[in-house]
Amino acid sequence: MYSCITLAVSDRVATITVNRPEKLNALNAATIGELEMAIDECRTREDIGAVILTGAGKGFIAGADISELANQSPIDAKSRALRGQRVFAKFERSPKPVIAAVNGFALGGGCELAMSCHFRLASEFAKFGQPEVKLGICPGYGGTQRLPRLVGKGRALQLLLTGEMIDAQEAYRIGLVNKVYPAAELLPAADAMLRQILANGPLAIAMCIEAVQHGLDAQLDDALTLEANHFAILAGTADMREGTSAFLAKRPPAFTGR
Ligand code: COA
Repeated sequence: MYSCITLAVSDRVATITVNRPEKLNALNAATIGELEMAIDECRTREDIGAVILTGAGKGFIAGADISELANQSPIDAKSRALRGQRVFAKFERSPKPVIAAVNGFALGGGCELAMSCHFRLASEFAKFGQPEVKLGICPGYGGTQRLPRLVGKGRALQLLLTGEMIDAQEAYRIGLVNKVYPAAELLPAADAMLRQILANGPLAIAMCIEAVQHGLDAQLDDALTLEANHFAILAGTADMREGTSAFLAKRPPAFTGR
């Protein structure tokens, strides 16, 4: 079913692996299409509770496939950008947590897709950058917007304007990644973190993601109202009753997502 990616599920955690290692997993149109199918599949399958996104070989994703960009017209370029933005938004708005496990080069569209995930863990060999300006283009999959939101305007502009690559430690220092691991420990660490998340109430997880996602771009007053509404909705769930009564009974909760 998939030829540019793989999707493997192990005990509720799906791993989407971009699988074009000979091109450092560059995002051609077919790969973007499969990523959309994969994140849709993860959203709808009940046996999946969380997602890891990673890359095969020494790359995470080395950007958009430059061979497809070379002859694009302005109209092609706009629809390419909008399509990618739409697909990346599905990662960002997934009600199930999505972690980018950045194993290698995360450049251009690769850095942009990692930034569309809920948070990023990196291998010691990961490299990040928005090198589009070196090709005479600017980012088109959200890099000019998500990067300043994550690392601040000055640092984002430095990366966007120089096109420089930074290593995992620098990405950690500026807040682009949450933690750096020895390469062999990256996927087990992402899996362990998702299992910690999956032990919590799934509706509460989805509400946290939605509140952060929508709240960050709203006025504080509106965002706080959104939060209060989410808090109220959760008060009507079996999971809230289960979580609170389990605490009071000094037993672990058994959430059902209802
Ligand atoms: N699009 C298309 N092909 C790409 C690619 C991309 N974004 N990034 C790497 N590749 C291909 C290379 O052309 C090469 O293919 P080939 O073996 O058929 O020639 C293969 O992947 C391996 O890359 P190579 O450049 O040989 O590896 P390297 O280790 O010497 O360099 C990078 C790694 C990441 C520094 C270098 O590949 C690079 O700069 N890539 C482009 C990054 C970029 O500008 N991304 C933003 C695009 S908008």
